[in-house]
Amino acid sequence: MKWQVLVLLVLCVSMALVFPLHGGISGSAHDFSTANWNFSGEICITCHTPHNAVPDVEGGRLWNHQLTDATFVLYSSDSFDGSQTIGQPTATSKLCLSCHDGTVALDNFGGFTGGTEFNLLQIGPDLSTSHPISFTYDSALAVIDRELYDPKVHPSGLGGTIDSDLLYKGRLECTSCHDVHNASGAAYLLVKSNAGSALCLTCHNK
Ligand code: HEC
Ligand code: HEC
Ligand code: HEC
Ligand code: HEC
Repeated sequence: MKWQVLVLLVLCVSMALVFPLHGGISGSAHDFSTANWNFSGEICITCHTPHNAVPDVEGGRLWNHQLTDATFVLYSSDSFDGSQTIGQPTATSKLCLSCHDGTVALDNFGGFTGGTEFNLLQIGPDLSTSHPISFTYDSALAVIDRELYDPKVHPSGLGGTIDSDLLYKGRLECTSCHDVHNASGAAYLLVKSNAGSALCLTCHNK
């Protein structure tokens, strides 16, 4: 083996160690296995449980965290065409906001409600200054707003369409941009890297 090849190999291996290609929840911002308020030492338990889950959570999911019952201030603007269908946060967004609206303690899981640990990264209850969520993003919306791609046919860049990969039952939710389990390993738990605004340009034809 020529020494140049060897140097290249060593470089590649060390790059792979510094910039891992795979994400995962372990060691991510959502790994609370070592938090001093989580006595179980487990990862999934703060959000899911195999038994005695919170009943009637939209979509099921064996949810284990106390749900928020806050009333949210919704996004609005005079050019926002989704205003017809926007409503109080639903589905996956409601699950996120049960830790990210600052009204429910982080340690309120497994039926416990006396927690005292709160999340400093709050996105609510005032949602008027955040990207709109919990509204319908369908082909019709892309006809009204010509600078949006048709979600039923436009690729997400993750293998399927915007609709199949990024929407929850045709609605835009927190999970359209974020992956709570950090599968991609992108910064801010994004579903994919937003370098060069690639995430924004997935849906917006700008
Ligand atoms: C910080 C909270 C949180 C933690 C910790 C967490 N999850 Fe989730 N999980 C969610 C939320 C929110 C959803 C719904 C949004 C979605 O589908 O991604 C979900 C959805 C799921 C789903 C159904 C949808 C899918 O992605 O397949 C499975 C299965 C799942 N989680 C498994 C796990 C397992 C296993 C662990 C532990 C290794 C875990 N989760 C840890 C919050 C969490
Ligand atoms: C069990 C409570 C809990 C749930 C449920 C939860 N989060 Fe978090 N999340 C946190 C905490 C606490 C942090 C801050 C961790 C820290 O201090 O670094 C965080 C951090 C984040 C970050 C910042 C990550 C970074 O690398 O800076 C994002 C983005 C995020 N959460 C999005 C979401 C989304 C989207 C959902 C729902 C799909 C969600 N979270 C559900 C508790 C939660
Ligand atoms: C349209 C895409 C999009 C949607 C929808 C979205 N986010 Fe984000 N979020 C981002 C991006 C991009 C960042 C990276 C930081 C930035 O650019 O401000 C971010 C950052 C964050 C952070 C870290 C903030 C910080 O100060 O470090 C949290 C927490 C978070 N989002 C939670 C949520 C929650 C909860 C929801 C749903 C209520 C949500 N996001 C909906 C795109 C989105
Ligand atoms: C999953 C698709 C999707 C992604 C990703 C996304 N958006 Fe959006 N965004 C939408 C849709 C759909 C609307 C609603 C447009 C409408 O009805 O006028 C919207 C609305 C907006 C609005 C408000 C428009 C208005 O008229 O009030 C802004 C600004 C915006 N997005 C910027 C961004 C930025 C910046 C990013 C990246 C951080 C981003 N979006 C990522 C789908 C997306």
